Amino acid sequence: MGHSLSTKHLLGLEYLEVKDIEKVLEVGFIFKEILNRPIKKVPTLRGKTIINLFYEPSTRTRVSFEQAGKILSADVINVTPETSSTTKGESLFNTALTIQAMKADTVVIRHPHAGAPYFLAQKLDCSVINAGDGMHAHPTQGLLDIHTIVKHLGSLEGKKVTIVGDILYSRVARTNLWALTKMGAKVVLCGPRTLIPPDFLNNARNTEGHPFASIEVEGDLNLAIRDADVVMALRIQRERQRSRHLPSLLEYSRMYGITSQRMRHASPDALVMHPGPINEGIEIDSDVAHGARSLIEYQVTAGVAIRMALLCSASAEQEPKDQGYI
Ligand code: CP
Repeated sequence: MGHSLSTKHLLGLEYLEVKDIEKVLEVGFIFKEILNRPIKKVPTLRGKTIINLFYEPSTRTRVSFEQAGKILSADVINVTPETSSTTKGESLFNTALTIQAMKADTVVIRHPHAGAPYFLAQKLDCSVINAGDGMHAHPTQGLLDIHTIVKHLGSLEGKKVTIVGDILYSRVARTNLWALTKMGAKVVLCGPRTLIPPDFLNNARNTEGHPFASIEVEGDLNLAIRDADVVMALRIQRERQRSRHLPSLLEYSRMYGITSQRMRHASPDALVMHPGPINEGIEIDSDVAHGARSLIEYQVTAGVAIRMALLCSASAEQEPKDQGYI
């Protein structure tokens, strides 16, 4: 099989066209089958070096990039700031140049500052994949979320997707707005007004051709999830909130927590999603998070397959374009 994705860097989903997203999904579905094999190993990226540079805590994204690279036979090296020369004052730029000098092929970066992956993409010759930058973007999460919905609903066209919670600080929400609207979903945002970006509360989106013109904001959770096909809860980003946006987590949970009672307003087969990590009992009740409608664990599995597809996509730019890789 010769699938040829070709995107040297993955920085944000605003730059991808629908056909690019569909290609990532297509290759991701093929790679997901490898995860069910007794021996999860293919030679696709043998001889390639992937550096995971994570300046923020992560379980899902870091481990799945590592697993994805290893399944594809790449050499994967994890760098954490605590055990690197960052502790001696080395800048991100010099760290990245050092890594490139070791002939890395792909750098996967998570960083607390929005724009860090863009900076590296300008400075380095190797591929750069954004694994989450501040409150700006988390494109691999957006793609695995789209994969998850398409797998279970067939398509996103006309589907109602309600995103609930801390929209303001969520790079997952910001990224999913691009992906979901490009794929034809009807998106509704719900959360405390203090956690909705101002542009969604004023008329800033009401200009013709604005990519987010169709997105609705609804403060009442029962109304927001009425007939929803997908309910996506978000984590309260306590580490990013610079001022007090909520009177208390208890009050947040009472007004915006996803409970089985509230899920009765959604479509009978509505899917429940959450990017993780979950604050169980705050943004989502345990019985919903682990219930029959929940796709939270599926999202994690999809993440490995999608990241395999994206690592191959980056690699395809480093090789002759007509060469198949699976
Ligand atoms: N969804 C997500 O990015 O999780 P991690 O922070 O564990 O990578």
